[in-house]
Amino acid sequence: MFFERDLFLHTRPRTVPAAALRFRLTWGLGGAAALMIVIQLITGVLLNFSYEPSPLTAYGSVQHIHYDVLFGRLFRNLHHWTGHALIVIAFLHMLRVFLSSAYRGSRHLNWIIGLGLFFLILLANFSGYLLPWDQRAYWAVTIATSILEYVPGFGTAMLEIIRGGSDVGAGTLHIFHTLHSGVLPLLMLFLMTWHFWKIRRAGGLFLPETEKSTLKSTTPPTERLAARPHLFIREKAAAAIVMAALLYPSIFFNAPLGALANPGLTPKTVKAPWYFIGLQELLIHVNPVVVVLVLLPLMLLFLLFFPLLKEDNLNGNRLVRLFFIGLVAGYAILTIIGLIFRGPGMQLGWFF
Ligand code: HEM
Ligand code: HEM
Repeated sequence: MFFERDLFLHTRPRTVPAAALRFRLTWGLGGAAALMIVIQLITGVLLNFSYEPSPLTAYGSVQHIHYDVLFGRLFRNLHHWTGHALIVIAFLHMLRVFLSSAYRGSRHLNWIIGLGLFFLILLANFSGYLLPWDQRAYWAVTIATSILEYVPGFGTAMLEIIRGGSDVGAGTLHIFHTLHSGVLPLLMLFLMTWHFWKIRRAGGLFLPETEKSTLKSTTPPTERLAARPHLFIREKAAAAIVMAALLYPSIFFNAPLGALANPGLTPKTVKAPWYFIGLQELLIHVNPVVVVLVLLPLMLLFLLFFPLLKEDNLNGNRLVRLFFIGLVAGYAILTIIGLIFRGPGMQLGWFF
């Protein structure tokens, strides 16, 4: 087929090391994330045909998509579930790259590009969250953006820029929609292309076993196989599984749509979207200025630059590993507390 041979094949390697075909090397997570971004771009553009980004029309247009438009509910559900699942998959991909120490040397820049992609995925989900313009969206975005107020000096100014005014309103919806359907997808496509190109430039995937065996012996490390069919058949099977796993919830479980946003009626419990709940919980326990000015910048510096630290052995630096796992576990615990154990008025209890 013209498309497959001349365009798609051009982006793929001709041969791959046999060891790189092992599923357990990558768990297919990077490929799954790429497919999910493509799904978001396609379903997002389709939703945009009927979505109307103004406080007077947004809610009604989402209802129209959901109840009247042909396949509207399926595409909306698919967009919703894929967006949220993408955070989990990209995070697991990051974890697997970390645990296989595939961030060293020339791959360090690709680790940083990956962090950029992860940040964009969070922003895309967050900006999308507001678009249905229901109570859940309105108040979650109000509470999550208000974190900016803790930045001393120019926090209020930043908040007004992000919100396009002092409160969440028409300006915010306009800014979020422009970011969501224009700026963020473009940046994502750019970083993704760069990410893939860097993998090719690094000579393919990082193979931990090969590295170990080349240290022990002088024999050439890997046998190479033709990418077609060996790699492509695996990629097609993985893509089919991902599609099935996303279609299942999209057919049977609807994306939520609460009551129309009402800026005059604050709900009893206002929680940030689940991926920011850990941060919301942390702000309850630690002085917000310390969180915003010290903890978050330090965490970011660590994530960006730990690959420069000296490593103890092939599995990396033990302290770095402990710290990274500690960060992940800590954030997971805060998220669980915020999600399950906080109820009306953010009181602690059992509220699942
Ligand atoms: C990785 C990219 C993207 C992610 C992660 C993402 C995520 C989301 C999320 C989580 C929602 C809220 C859905 C809901 O709960 O109802 C949403 C809504 C929406 N998105 Fe995206 N999106 C992405 C790309 C796009 C693109 C490229 C477009 C259009 C060009 C788009 C258009 C829309 C529209 C119109 C809505 C409102 C409809 C609705 O809420 O059902 N999205 N998006
Ligand atoms: C939209 C998000 C992302 C996409 C589509 C993506 C895609 C991919 C793909 C397809 C690979 C090839 C191997 C594999 O499948 O694991 C890969 C490798 C890699 N990714 Fe990502 N990735 C994303 C996010 C991230 C994140 C969040 C990080 C880390 C912060 C990251 C860091 C890396 C690194 C360092 C490699 C090279 C690994 C090696 O050589 O074995 N990526 N990525």
